[in-house]
Amino acid sequence: MVEVPETLRHVAIIMDGNGRWANARGSRRTRGHKEGVKSVRRVTTTLAESGLEYLTLYALSVENWVKRPRPEIEFLLMLLRRFLIQERRTIMDNNIRFRAIGRVHEFPDSVRKELDHLTEMSRDNDGMVLCLALNYGGRSEILDAVRSLATKVRDGDLEPDALDEKILRGELYDPDMPDVDLLIRTAGEMRISNFLLWQVSYGEIWVTQTFWPDFGERELEQALRSFGGRERKFGGLAQKVDA
Ligand code: IPE
Ligand code: IPE
Ligand code: MG
Repeated sequence: MVEVPETLRHVAIIMDGNGRWANARGSRRTRGHKEGVKSVRRVTTTLAESGLEYLTLYALSVENWVKRPRPEIEFLLMLLRRFLIQERRTIMDNNIRFRAIGRVHEFPDSVRKELDHLTEMSRDNDGMVLCLALNYGGRSEILDAVRSLATKVRDGDLEPDALDEKILRGELYDPDMPDVDLLIRTAGEMRISNFLLWQVSYGEIWVTQTFWPDFGERELEQALRSFGGRERKFGGLAQKVDA
């Protein structure tokens, strides 16, 4: 269990450094991915037990999908499918609602079937939402939303002047997803890498040098504590400043 600050609803994690973790041990990158799955299980159950509302994990980007060697992608899909089957029990026992965002329609049927199965199976749970970002890109998400809105305008179902942020948000992959409060990135890179571009606008960022397979409860605690000590202003003035 970790202490989740009251104002923290949505944690999003860029799970990076699997390859470097493996390289440092003279192993293949695939071993790093395999080990990374254990961190996913650890972090998911800890945060679900701790009462977090929403957890999004960046598991595969649209860029990974086209730029990584095919065998690595195949391996990741195999791991994903296995995870979706093996974790059913953990998901249900922890009252977790599972969902996926991204262009998963490009995945093979065998993987999509398991995604649908777990989503369906867990839909009435009312604990934490675990959202996996798969073949996901923040730009693609906005682009897909814009395409859908443009279609509505063309069909006369939407006036361009009526379009506002709320309507656009309603077209994102998961319209119920709250804004990201805390964005965690492992393995030291100081970048967003096309993750949740719309939702992360005022997210607090926390980066650790630790590679994803080594990320555990102690570090999670550090990130949450850091978040708890920050003052968020959303463009306004600091609370303590006199008017
Ligand atoms: C993150 O680890 C997992 C995925 C992107 C699928 P990487 O595979 O990016 O690991 P590094 O960055 O090469 O160490
Ligand atoms: C971001 O990591 C994507 C995921 C963690 C799935 P990358 O390893 O793909 O990011 P870059 O290439 O270092 O920006
Ligand atoms: Mg990486």
